[in-house]
Amino acid sequence: MAVTVKKVDTRDVDIAKTLIYLQKKCLPGDDLVDITAGHWWIAYDEFMLPVGFAGMVRSYYWNDCGYLCRAGVLKDWRGKGIQKKLLKAREKHAKKLGWNWLISDTTDNPASSNSLISCGFKLYDPSKPWGFKHTLYWRKKLNAVQRPRSKKKKTRGILEEILRSK
Ligand SMILES: CC(C)(COP(=O)(O)OP(=O)(O)OC[C@H]1O[C@@H](n2cnc3c(N)ncnc32)[C@H](O)[C@@H]1OP(=O)(O)O)[C@@H](O)C(=O)NCCC(=O)NCCS
Repeated sequence: MAVTVKKVDTRDVDIAKTLIYLQKKCLPGDDLVDITAGHWWIAYDEFMLPVGFAGMVRSYYWNDCGYLCRAGVLKDWRGKGIQKKLLKAREKHAKKLGWNWLISDTTDNPASSNSLISCGFKLYDPSKPWGFKHTLYWRKKLNAVQRPRSKKKKTRGILEEILRSK
């Protein structure tokens, strides 16, 4: 079973349709999440057929934190570690973006909770819980790759220094 996880561009109509299809199939009772915001991944089988998906958005409250907003794996493909692959892909990208934290929540979902535990997430109590009374909140501290300051900023800094010294 070779499953490949790819980061996808949701401006592509076929990708958008695939994400909507996967959301409907994996979470039939839930409202669709807006896929035009954030970062999205699709897991494909060896024939490049979609079998799972996941999304990540920047947290509303913290600049250096990503929120794992949604994920799903088609029924026949569950229990094969695909959600963990999707978690790892999101974590890798979050680090690339320089984010220091990932957060998520689960409600009545042992499989989702266990995959988060396997990937190193810990339970925590947010100061402003956003879910149901029994929702569980998860977070993971990342060792983000620090992005180098842009050349533009550096130049501006040097210019300011020269002007100040005159
Ligand atoms: C939650 C979901 C994404 C997990 O996907 P998956 O690819 O099957 O997950 P994984 O195989 O990577 O890991 C699942 C873990 O939960 C465990 N698990 C599976 N079913 C379980 C159950 N009924 N009770 C407890 N643990 C369970 C597995 O043993 C595995 O644990 P491990 O990491 O210790 O090995 C999938 O079940 C799903 O799509 N559910 C419907 C949509 C959904 O709930 N999405 C999440 C909220 S948006």
